[in-house]
Amino acid sequence: MQSHETIKILVTNQKGGVGKSTIAANLAAYLALQQGIEVSLIDFDRQASSSRWTKKAPDIGIRVHCAEINYENSGIALLGARAAVRKYSSGVQVSISDLTWHPALSDEFMLDFDIVLVPSSSAKFEMASTEIFILEYAQKRMARLAANKQFILVAPSKVDPADASSGSFTNLDFLMNCHITPPIHQTPDLDTYVYEDFLCVCPDQKVAENFCDFGKFLAKKIEERNVTKKTLSISGTSQNREIIKKVSVLDDYRARARELGIYGGYAAKPLVDISQPVPVDAKPEVVRVGRFIPAFLRRSE
Ligand SMILES: Nc1ncnc2c1ncn2[C@@H]1O[C@H](COP(=O)(O)OP(=O)(O)OP(=O)(O)O)[C@@H](O)[C@H]1O
Ligand SMILES: [Mg+2]
Repeated sequence: MQSHETIKILVTNQKGGVGKSTIAANLAAYLALQQGIEVSLIDFDRQASSSRWTKKAPDIGIRVHCAEINYENSGIALLGARAAVRKYSSGVQVSISDLTWHPALSDEFMLDFDIVLVPSSSAKFEMASTEIFILEYAQKRMARLAANKQFILVAPSKVDPADASSGSFTNLDFLMNCHITPPIHQTPDLDTYVYEDFLCVCPDQKVAENFCDFGKFLAKKIEERNVTKKTLSISGTSQNREIIKKVSVLDDYRARARELGIYGGYAAKPLVDISQPVPVDAKPEVVRVGRFIPAFLRRSE
């Protein structure tokens, strides 16, 4: 891997138990062992699952750090989280942060990363909540995302290998820079590897191959991001001009969204003129207006 600035990966989802820590620890191991990359793992979770796994398993040179966020004050939470990532990303090629997303944390923090990796099982409820999580972020931060070209990767996790249709996040297909990774299969005897071994080199060949396919995909995205980052810094000025243009489009978008009363793709239009007395049985008409993503955030293909 060519060495540029540290590539920062955030493994997150607001949902618990989706496989964040399993993926963070094992991705760190894959990159260190199979790609020879210098990696740090930053564990933001109190349970310290990924850091414990990485510390207890054979030492393969991953730099493991634990960091705690004080959510009592959102300003302090953002400052503390940023400081930890800055500190523990220095001197390595890739840093991986394991964090259960907390609403008190500003999504400014998410913008700091090169890759946001969002694990999700293919259960319908979990897929829907993951899609909303990503779309809300994308809609709120679209101008910055379009300029940063940050990768948002959805990782279908705990996928039944027999179920080919699982992990199809169709509502995200159109979103620029959003990709679905190869699925990580449900591993019935995962507990035998926890703290002992890493999935990419475990004795069960199917499990190892499956995780390596996922790891290879991530390694490719890291390389791509290295190239993009270089061009981003070269053409910084024109990028800024682009951002200004895009922010003005965003303002138009906000004004129109406000006018339509859109939230999550639905607009509630009252049937009645609110200046008139409202009939007792009047119900608002809910009109499907389609998701409102401007062209510059859409995929070109
Ligand atoms: N691919 C897999 N196959 C089987 N079990 C898995 C897999 N990935 C994770 N698990 C199991 O699911 C549970 C949750 O996994 P993990 O701790 O990685 O998720 P998490 O998103 O980090 O959870 P938390 O929100 O509690 O931090 C654990 O018991 C773990 O062993
Ligand atoms: Mg965890």
